[in-house]
Amino acid sequence: ADPAVQVPELLGSPLADIRSTGALPLPPALYLDADGRGRRNSTGLDLTAPAHRAPLQAALDRVVVQPVAEATPEQVDAAMARLQAGFPAWSATPVSQRAAILRRAADALDARLAEFCALLVKEAFKTQADCVAEVREAVDFLRYYADNAEADAGAMQGRGVFVCISPWNFPLAIFAGQVVAALVAGNTVAAKPAEQTPYVALKMVELLHEAGVPADALVLLHGAGETVGAGLVAHAHTAGVCFTGSTVVAQIINKALARKPNAPIPLIAETGGLNAMVVDSTALPEQVIDAVVQSAFRSAGQRCSALRLLCVQSSIADGVIEMLKGALEQLHVGQPARLATDVGPVIDDEAHANIARHVERLKREARLIAEAPVAEPLPRQIRPVAFELKRIADLGEEIFGPVLHVVRFESSVDEVIADINALGYGLTLGIQTRIDSRAQRLADAARIGNVYVNRNIIGAVVGVQPFGGEGLSGTGPKAGGPDYLRRFCTEPHLDAPA
Ligand code: SER
Repeated sequence: ADPAVQVPELLGSPLADIRSTGALPLPPALYLDADGRGRRNSTGLDLTAPAHRAPLQAALDRVVVQPVAEATPEQVDAAMARLQAGFPAWSATPVSQRAAILRRAADALDARLAEFCALLVKEAFKTQADCVAEVREAVDFLRYYADNAEADAGAMQGRGVFVCISPWNFPLAIFAGQVVAALVAGNTVAAKPAEQTPYVALKMVELLHEAGVPADALVLLHGAGETVGAGLVAHAHTAGVCFTGSTVVAQIINKALARKPNAPIPLIAETGGLNAMVVDSTALPEQVIDAVVQSAFRSAGQRCSALRLLCVQSSIADGVIEMLKGALEQLHVGQPARLATDVGPVIDDEAHANIARHVERLKREARLIAEAPVAEPLPRQIRPVAFELKRIADLGEEIFGPVLHVVRFESSVDEVIADINALGYGLTLGIQTRIDSRAQRLADAARIGNVYVNRNIIGAVVGVQPFGGEGLSGTGPKAGGPDYLRRFCTEPHLDAPA
């Protein structure tokens, strides 16, 4: 089927809206390509259909995650020299050629969906629905940035060697998104994936090389952030850094870059969030609970966009909390390879210990609402859980797991938004109300990158809901949005008219 479709008239001028709120009255699978046509995102795999189940199951049976070796300081140095030497040729390659490579890679990745899903299940313990969504998102990044680069070709001039440091929670989509954005904008790239999920990154880099990215334009370096990551950031050839991960590590990188003799060096950082959903007394409780369960517990809460704080107007709080209890009891916590599983284990022992410590503390200091049962006991499992806190200010730091904090409020919803702004993060926000003017007013007052009204707050769609925050949540630009590539470039001089 032709992926390009006409944009329905009702869409108006969506790109302007995308910039302002991140939440759009658009069918979530459509964005505008470089020619202003609507292009479908890659969505729509029914996991239960036998035609899709069979290849996924076969891949799960076949795929084995292999160990990788950590790069030595000498290897880091050699890689950076190679990428510096490769920069002139790659940056001189016409944008149309670079974009064509991305599109070839997108087609290859799409064709290997089952294999990459299996890798994500095995290396990152993602549920199958999460894996499919992630591979689709990676394909969308490749196609969207290819379109964007061509539309912006005149303004694209790479900076040099870009260092891309990516997290384990989207080890394919965020990894690929960063790397191909930097590449298509004309940079060469040193890619350092999270040490928890190196193998899926390795397979993606192989795929990019097979699609035509030259060996001296993209080098993969494995290892810990403290060693390999720090070495890359400190390296003399580094012309820019793109980082997704914790706020604390972004601050460390920023300081390290500032100390370099060739500072200032640009940093693009997408970091954490203390994301809230505000529910007023007019909201639909069933819709609220559905949105809360998706946002707080899907991916075992290991998304930077995930819901941490549910603020419910006190007049409906008892009813909402009662329904939340019921929903927690329904969750299937178990083996990620099983289709029925809603929540799998968390990524590693350290994450497990951190979350478990937080849950133990809340069991002493807050009111337990409910904890999901465990269907199959596995290592590193955290039972999805909800607690009631007295005040928003009691929230503390971001806890990266399936833990929801609920606060009732008597005050006006506007005051609640002010309290949320005061937390200093600004990544995602949910608003649940049936009063349209109120939703608009609150969205305008929120210092938050992505605001979602009457729906869940995760799973931003490339080209439709550009994703990124402000304040402690990051520097922007928004990933999957029309301004993303420009931050990877310098602005070329304009030729004098002949
Ligand atoms: N982009 C993801 C989401 O929107 C989070 O990284 O959920």
